[in-house]
Amino acid sequence: MSYNLLKGKKGLIFGALNEHSIAWKVAERAVEEGAEIILTNTAVSIRMGTINDLAKKCNTIVVPADATSVVDLENLIDKSMEHFGGKFDFILHSIGMSPNVRKGKTYDDLDYDFLSKTLDISAVSFHKVIQVARKKDAINDWGSIVALSYIAAQRTLYGYNDMADAKALLESIARSFGYIYGREKNVRINTISQSPTPTTAGSGVLGLGDLMDFSESMSPLGNATASDCADYVLTLFSDLTRMVTMQNLLHDGGFSSMGMSLKAMKTYEKGLALQFEDVKSNGSSSTDK
Ligand SMILES: NC(=O)c1ccc[n+]([C@@H]2O[C@H](COP(=O)([O-])OP(=O)(O)OC[C@H]3O[C@@H](n4cnc5c(N)ncnc54)[C@H](O)[C@@H]3O)[C@@H](O)[C@H]2O)c1
Repeated sequence: MSYNLLKGKKGLIFGALNEHSIAWKVAERAVEEGAEIILTNTAVSIRMGTINDLAKKCNTIVVPADATSVVDLENLIDKSMEHFGGKFDFILHSIGMSPNVRKGKTYDDLDYDFLSKTLDISAVSFHKVIQVARKKDAINDWGSIVALSYIAAQRTLYGYNDMADAKALLESIARSFGYIYGREKNVRINTISQSPTPTTAGSGVLGLGDLMDFSESMSPLGNATASDCADYVLTLFSDLTRMVTMQNLLHDGGFSSMGMSLKAMKTYEKGLALQFEDVKSNGSSSTDK
């Protein structure tokens, strides 16, 4: 359903790779809500993914940019202002990648060149995007900038690896730049901490299926989907949230406030019963500690 929430607004969306991407859903919903958008991704992702189909659907252009390259970002912001005929209103940063995760390097055996890349791609790029946009005075007063985060920034989750450090930095950048851009131009900057979601980046996380089952069973509302996330992002781009800035907003079906749920307790009990059976028949438990 459309509420015309973004009528007359214009924005730039990073990170739509394919139809599973959170950014893809945001782009579709933003256009449904009356916004004009521009899409961007790396040249490789544009070639490997299906962003051009999305561009057709959204009646717009795709401008290639590596979000770690200031030169690319300057070109992107210039092209965006040219296309829109001036300033625009919102930016979505929906970018994440860890070479350590990709190459199976664990947190206690990190490759530090890879770690620098993780931080640059997944967090520092957010600073670069905002710094370039601000220097070019590309964002209208009361504009809105959003990046996507994950609860591993605050709590340790097995297998999330150096992406946890990247998310902590990302959330800090939202606060530090939120202060500067807010006091000058009333531009607000927030991060949304999303439930685990089956996307290309998500499936790189060790044991995503189990992680999703666990958080589904712990969250009173269940896991938030990519489409749910898109709806939440839109509210932050709209004028209904003008006084929300420098926040990390949890979009997780209640997961972050839970300690133990009945559903998780029942699953755990079943697991214990199975373990007990195992001990009885083999004389030992095969459970990995
Ligand atoms: N999927 C999840 O479980 C989950 C949960 C919470 C937060 N997030 C976050 O949501 C965001 C979007 O991820 P997604 O789950 O939609 O996966 P996705 O794989 O669809 O999107 C990740 C995007 O990052 C882009 N990217 C990588 N390197 C880049 C670079 N140098 N410059 C520009 N773009 C680059 C990729 O091309 C891709 O489009 C990420 O920040 C991710 O960490 C995902």
